[in-house]
Amino acid sequence: MRYLGIIFIISFLFSCKKDKEDNSYHPTPYALPQISNFRIAELNPDNPLTEEGVRLGHQLFFEKRLSKDFTLSCASCHLPENGFSDPKQFSEGVGGTLGRRQSMSLYNLAWGKQFFWDGRAKNLEEQALFPVPDTTEMHLTWQEAEQRLNAHIGYKKMFKDAFGTDNITKELVARALAQYVKTIVSYNSPFDKYIRKEGNLSAAALRGYKLFNTEAADCFHCHSTPELFIHPSQVFSNNGLDVVDNPEGFKDKGHGEHTGNPQNNGQFKIPSLRNLTMTAPYMHDGRFKTLDEVIDFYNNGPNLSPSLDPIMITEANRRLLQDGRWGLGLSEQDKADLKAYLISLSDSTVLKNPLYQAPKEM
Ligand code: HEC
Ligand code: HEC
Repeated sequence: MRYLGIIFIISFLFSCKKDKEDNSYHPTPYALPQISNFRIAELNPDNPLTEEGVRLGHQLFFEKRLSKDFTLSCASCHLPENGFSDPKQFSEGVGGTLGRRQSMSLYNLAWGKQFFWDGRAKNLEEQALFPVPDTTEMHLTWQEAEQRLNAHIGYKKMFKDAFGTDNITKELVARALAQYVKTIVSYNSPFDKYIRKEGNLSAAALRGYKLFNTEAADCFHCHSTPELFIHPSQVFSNNGLDVVDNPEGFKDKGHGEHTGNPQNNGQFKIPSLRNLTMTAPYMHDGRFKTLDEVIDFYNNGPNLSPSLDPIMITEANRRLLQDGRWGLGLSEQDKADLKAYLISLSDSTVLKNPLYQAPKEM
């Protein structure tokens, strides 16, 4: 037994030494841009961003080999020119199968937590495992996806550079995709520039900013963080899209479908308000085609349901008591101003960034 122990130790030391000598794995750290009006993103320490990982993720994001019939990539439903979302109300998966929710914009998710409209993925590494086997999306088993990539010499090399191994697994594919998604960053909207004192906003947008950020339109309670315009701590909410009289009555249970708690039925992830000019239609089911429809919805007041967010009720009730009207009571001018403000959160500079275009096919 003693000898066996010694042999183990010697062979262990030997293997360490061998690793050191052979190891050509030296990825280059990748830094997200430093943005003075953003907080520091809290990144997953288990998947540090590297130049090699991001490059690989970029290639994989546009890779149609990840779908059953080689027709779809992630970018087919997250189109860069549409703010990485889909102009269709419901995206088409392989063979034209329709999903049941609107595709989500992917900007600034490095600052996000809990993913999908219902929150079923706790981080982006977990999220990236879903679309490939989803039968309404890419409809390919992970086993087959791994085989296809392992059969490709170019990918073998890219994985080796990014992760130090060319044994391509779904976990590594997901890590690379998550790295790329974290680098999709937008921070040069007219509003960002105004906040950083690099530019001006129109008078209409400034009036809209005030409506948004006060109880007049009362958007800031749920849409206030500088990176995504979401709630600083509350991820899910029911903003009153539908009249529903019992917790089982929601057509899509949203967050409740994930937690199994009926109190969460009808709650959805509070979405980013960045680049709205590119990301129509709006809401989890893409029911609104224009920002005017969104603003009219909020102005008319929420519909009642068991999980309706109290923030919506308080504001609406306050006005109901004051002047006998349900809703915000915004004038036509107010609505136009609010829209001008929402438009000022869109950043056209991202459209020219080569990192957000399809790379050369491999
Ligand atoms: C067939 C269309 C389709 C394809 C292909 C697709 N997605 Fe999506 N994506 C969606 C839809 C629809 C949602 C929202 C689904 C839901 O919430 O249930 C979504 C949600 C997401 C989210 C969550 C965003 C958030 O804010 O929570 C991320 C991230 C994402 N997709 C990344 C990817 C990646 C990476 C790929 C490729 C591996 C991919 N998607 C492929 C349609 C698609
Ligand atoms: C109580 C929280 C809350 C308040 C207050 C609120 N929102 Fe929302 N907002 C949400 C939620 C939740 C969604 C997603 C709802 C869904 O799809 O089921 C949403 C969706 C949106 C969308 C659609 C984005 C997309 O990509 O689909 C826009 C635009 C928007 N809100 C603007 C506003 C404006 C403007 C105000 C003020 C008038 C406002 N919100 C007030 C919670 C809120």
